[in-house]
Amino acid sequence: MGMNRMRRLIAVFALTVTVGVLAFAQAKPNVVIIATGGTIAGAGADATNSATYQAAKVPVDQLIAGIPQLSAAANVKGEQLFQIASESFKNEHLLTLGKRIAVLVKQNDVDGIVVTHGTDTLEETAYFLNLVIHSEKPIVIVGAMRPGTAMSADGMLNLYNAVTVAGSKDARGKGVLVTMNDEINSGRDVAKAINIKTEAFKSPWGALGMVVEGKNYWFRLPAKRHTVNSEFDIEKINSLPRVEIAYASGNVSDVAYRAFADAGAKAIIHAATGNGSVSNTLVPSLVELRKKGIHIIRSSRVDSGGFVLRNAEQPDDKYDWIVAHDLNPQKARILASVALTSTNDSKELQRIFWEY
Ligand code: DGL
Repeated sequence: MGMNRMRRLIAVFALTVTVGVLAFAQAKPNVVIIATGGTIAGAGADATNSATYQAAKVPVDQLIAGIPQLSAAANVKGEQLFQIASESFKNEHLLTLGKRIAVLVKQNDVDGIVVTHGTDTLEETAYFLNLVIHSEKPIVIVGAMRPGTAMSADGMLNLYNAVTVAGSKDARGKGVLVTMNDEINSGRDVAKAINIKTEAFKSPWGALGMVVEGKNYWFRLPAKRHTVNSEFDIEKINSLPRVEIAYASGNVSDVAYRAFADAGAKAIIHAATGNGSVSNTLVPSLVELRKKGIHIIRSSRVDSGGFVLRNAEQPDDKYDWIVAHDLNPQKARILASVALTSTNDSKELQRIFWEY
């Protein structure tokens, strides 16, 4: 066989292999993992340390390298945006994260995004992104309850599941999602319900679905406005108004509420007992604070889903107060802060609480 013919055969073979590899790579979705810290990046001294460890230690490239199976599921790239425990998240972190995601979702070479995050405020970040990111691409927030150094650590499978969900077409258009413990929850509804179990996250109205061995099984869809149907856009938000949460109990006083008002809060979330009730000794102070221009928003401290209706426990129309509906106090804070970037009108704010 002449040299030219051999060269042609080698060239054809090399081209075939290249096309094959590219086709295979293209068949896999492109997923960006944005790492922010938390237990999923935690490290303990010993494999028996499932609760005693330091969060926010392991860099994202090491997290990815620790799960070789990821490469078969997606073309994965990691970005280390922060390396902090999530109880230390500030509004500035939410804005930086949201703006980075807004850039990435516009890229044609990005099919989905995973955010690794501490579990303490994961539910707040998930809801915030659900309100302000305008994209149908899957954005999946994931954490872990045990550090990767512990026996039966949950982070590896949680992260693997998050990547497969983020890369799947059937996760598009469902709002921001949270994958923990094989469940797929809505970023709006889900909250950390217990702080010592791997089954830590619950949605009061149920999970959206399950992810098992890389396949999604859906049982319900979000009912509230989110992402592309949201009137809020991260690209138009450069600061978040101050909203504080005052936790109610028996013997509650108005000291915290007045202190928040003096500190410049634009709204105060009343983390109420029961159905959003307000102590008779507290009502006059909240009426006074409203007259000073501070919004009073009645939420419920009841775990796994309060349900606060207007004019039930209190005459909200008379006092010009707002109800948070089914949002827990920390979610109500997020929505109030985002809503106050676009309106200070109490009737508009109440509409927003019904719709989001
Ligand atoms: N410090 C907590 C946090 O970063 C650890 C909890 C966790 O990530 O599971 O949220």
